[in-house]
Amino acid sequence: MNDIVETWHALDGTLLEMRPMRPSDGPQVKVSLNKLSADARRSRFFASIAEFSDDAVHRLIDIDPAREYLLVVLRRDDNGEIPIAGGRFVLEDQRPECAFSLLIGDPWQGQGIGRRIIKALIREASRRGMRRMHGHVLADNRPMLALARALHFAVR
Ligand SMILES: CC(C)(COP(=O)(O)OP(=O)(O)OC[C@H]1O[C@@H](n2cnc3c(N)ncnc32)[C@H](O)[C@@H]1OP(=O)(O)O)[C@@H](O)C(=O)NCCC(=O)NCCS
Repeated sequence: MNDIVETWHALDGTLLEMRPMRPSDGPQVKVSLNKLSADARRSRFFASIAEFSDDAVHRLIDIDPAREYLLVVLRRDDNGEIPIAGGRFVLEDQRPECAFSLLIGDPWQGQGIGRRIIKALIREASRRGMRRMHGHVLADNRPMLALARALHFAVR
């Protein structure tokens, strides 16, 4: 496979792989999204989402590659590739600026996966000539605010 961005081992030894999302990931992404805690859903989508439908999953993963970049982190098991995390940026119109978002599955949080994804997003955004990146974060989302501060984002 030639589009792998990174592979590494999680704390428990699981081999993880980060690569751009593909439309064929949809069914597995839907399963993973529907396992997210209420807290993770609210932190990422700013709303309490009861169920991710096929349409909602398509809206999330069918991107316009000219304006968006979407990474998925996967682990492999007997059933194939299981998405455990993801992150994206969306370019702003007419400005060298983009907006990021991150989503790490609950059991996988706090292991450096969010940090890895956002660093890969920053690399790709700067390769595309972006000068600024921003994200919308709930004021009570301490992990995301700490990660942003650690990477020298200004918090407003
Ligand atoms: C917020 C989120 C993206 C962080 O990703 P993560 O993989 O859990 O975080 P990492 O393990 O990469 O941690 C990186 C840094 O974030 C901070 N951090 C992570 N978890 C933290 C926690 N529970 N409390 C305080 N700081 C935390 C720390 O600064 C940490 O650095 P350190 O490991 O050197 O201490 C992830 O928890 C998540 O997806 N949450 C739900 C959705 C969400 O909040 N998305 C953000 C909105 S865009």
